[in-house]
Amino acid sequence: MDNPDGSNLPLCSWTNAVLYPVLLSLADLDAMLGPQQFRGVANFSTFLLDRSSGVLFLGARDAILAVDTNNLTKPPRTIVWDVPEEKRKSCVAKGKTEGDCNNYLRLLEFLGNGWIYVCGTYAFDPQCAFLNMSSFSLERGEDGGVRMETGKGKCPFEPSQHYTAVMADPEFVSSVFIQQDEDNNPQGEDNKIYFFFTEVAKEYDLYTKVKVPRVARVCKSDVGGMKTLQRRWTTFLKAQLVCEDRASGQRYNILTDVYTKQHTSGDPSSTHFYGLFTSQWEHEELSAVCVYSLADISKVMDGPFKELKKTCENWINPEPVPTPRPGQCLNSALRAEGFESSLKLPDKVLTFMRDHPLMENNVIAAPLLVRRGITYTKVAVTRTTTGSDDDQRNAATVLHLGTDRGELHRVLVVGHITTLLQEIPLFSAQEPVNNILLHKGQALVGSPLSLARVGAEGCSLYPSCEVCARARPLGCVWRAKEGACGPGMTEPIQGQEVEDALKLCDSGEGRCSPVLRELRVSVGLHVLLPCVQVSTRPCTWEHPPHRHTRQHHSDLEVTVTEESLGTYTCLCQEGGPEGKEESPVCRRASYHLTLEGPSAGGAMAMAGGRHLLAIYMLCFM
Ligand SMILES: *[C@@H]1O[C@H](CO)[C@@H](O)[C@H](O)[C@H]1NC(C)=O
Ligand SMILES: *[C@@H]1O[C@H](CO)[C@@H](O)[C@H](O)[C@H]1NC(C)=O
Ligand SMILES: *[C@@H]1O[C@H](CO)[C@@H](O)[C@H](O)[C@H]1NC(C)=O
Repeated sequence: MDNPDGSNLPLCSWTNAVLYPVLLSLADLDAMLGPQQFRGVANFSTFLLDRSSGVLFLGARDAILAVDTNNLTKPPRTIVWDVPEEKRKSCVAKGKTEGDCNNYLRLLEFLGNGWIYVCGTYAFDPQCAFLNMSSFSLERGEDGGVRMETGKGKCPFEPSQHYTAVMADPEFVSSVFIQQDEDNNPQGEDNKIYFFFTEVAKEYDLYTKVKVPRVARVCKSDVGGMKTLQRRWTTFLKAQLVCEDRASGQRYNILTDVYTKQHTSGDPSSTHFYGLFTSQWEHEELSAVCVYSLADISKVMDGPFKELKKTCENWINPEPVPTPRPGQCLNSALRAEGFESSLKLPDKVLTFMRDHPLMENNVIAAPLLVRRGITYTKVAVTRTTTGSDDDQRNAATVLHLGTDRGELHRVLVVGHITTLLQEIPLFSAQEPVNNILLHKGQALVGSPLSLARVGAEGCSLYPSCEVCARARPLGCVWRAKEGACGPGMTEPIQGQEVEDALKLCDSGEGRCSPVLRELRVSVGLHVLLPCVQVSTRPCTWEHPPHRHTRQHHSDLEVTVTEESLGTYTCLCQEGGPEGKEESPVCRRASYHLTLEGPSAGGAMAMAGGRHLLAIYMLCFM
């Protein structure tokens, strides 16, 4: 932070400088591929990993790449699939831009038997092709050209469109195929597909278009109806997802990503869906994570149907639900009754289905995490259980979150305590993270231009005593002699252990007793005092009695005057259990502002020089 030319602030004009520390760590980045390695191929949007071989297929502009994740130094293999010159010209002649008249590959899917289905925007004329994995080439027709079939309805036309949106209208975020446990399916239940999306609610008669996040379910063997719902799903049920902090009433209604995780490996009924949300009504950046269990979704799907056409009559006497129950997936019992296919379903069931696609009850969760001023784009989840595997109360969840500015954040959730572990800058701020994939203890993180591999499991990820102490619920212990974080004995972890572990670090810091940081400032300076809060509960500041402060989320901006010198402490409520109003207050950050002496050369510096804190200067233009 020392300034070379003797003036006090190298980056900003004297009066509008802002001090901003971020928890940074670069230690566990183990490989990075960028424009240099990709040799001009860019606009990556789709990931498909062959877990058996470790080969990662990437969909890009006019190309499909195969990267060996076991050895990232191997040059990636490339297949070019571009738009013929003539077609490009006619696309441009229709008024589209040169850049958009390319083939942006937006869908990669395994077909089985060594084939991958590949779809691209193909100059506003979506096309799909077949990739032979063993020869790593696209199948060709007799004329020698790539064998193609139309991609309409499978791939967006517009290159700028959200690439997972495979259908018009609602914004699709994710679809998940959940297979029944083959060894434990006494009822012979059909497999199910879950869709996650955000749509404009039709059930509210409001002027503003209210968006609602939804989950929908269809049965795998659904082939449509005979007369009613011909060639349409006969088992399509949908329910509203609610991600709401009850204490503040804040609702997060726009779903942007979903990560699916079995809490007990190998048991489909333990599936949980981690949803990433933002809000339609907030003008600032805002992100929240809510988790829904498959069991909770099933309960709502098995509950009452919403009466959308409310007449006086059916208000009092809701339409009786016919049998077989609409939306129910086929099982052995139904098959025995002669319903071996959706084509055999009676018309009254299908009519009811058509009129009642929405469930009455919502699937409700409270956020695990809320962050203001940050836009998360992708989420992935790892879990550690200590003690007996079944005891989910001792589970520690790590959220791996990608931001729109090329960072990867890691947040630890144990019970109702949420702790920010790390913020890792991977790419430039212009590169949003658009893919995160977990494989063999590592996270493969992608942006439109780059691919990074970082460690995702194990204590060695946490490079300092403080971060290691915060990761104590993951079983990590700091070894001062080696200066490394390693696995400790796996005993049940109580909250106090984090506190004790933090106290052992020489900073003298506890989880709720931060070190007091000295800040040397000058009159007229704007200083932003950071306070990181990752739960929904509000933070307040204790500060000298004057009016030159302004709170941004949980951070405090101070305009330095003679009166504003003194101690500033950020107090945050811990995210208490749902519905419990009184939650413990935790001191999150503490600063002492003093006037800079005439001999102090560097303008602003943080006392202690802690290695995980980097200091940034920002300008408010
Ligand atoms: C990784 O690939 C490079 C380049 O092809 C090769 O030289 C190197 O031996 C490989 N490393 C391993 C461990 O296979
Ligand atoms: C796929 O490629 C492999 C290796 O070149 C080849 O042996 C195989 O016949 C191809 N499959 C088809 C169906 O063309
Ligand atoms: C493709 O990448 C280029 C360069 O990064 C960018 O300017 C352009 O907007 C991208 N186009 C699409 C459709 O993503």
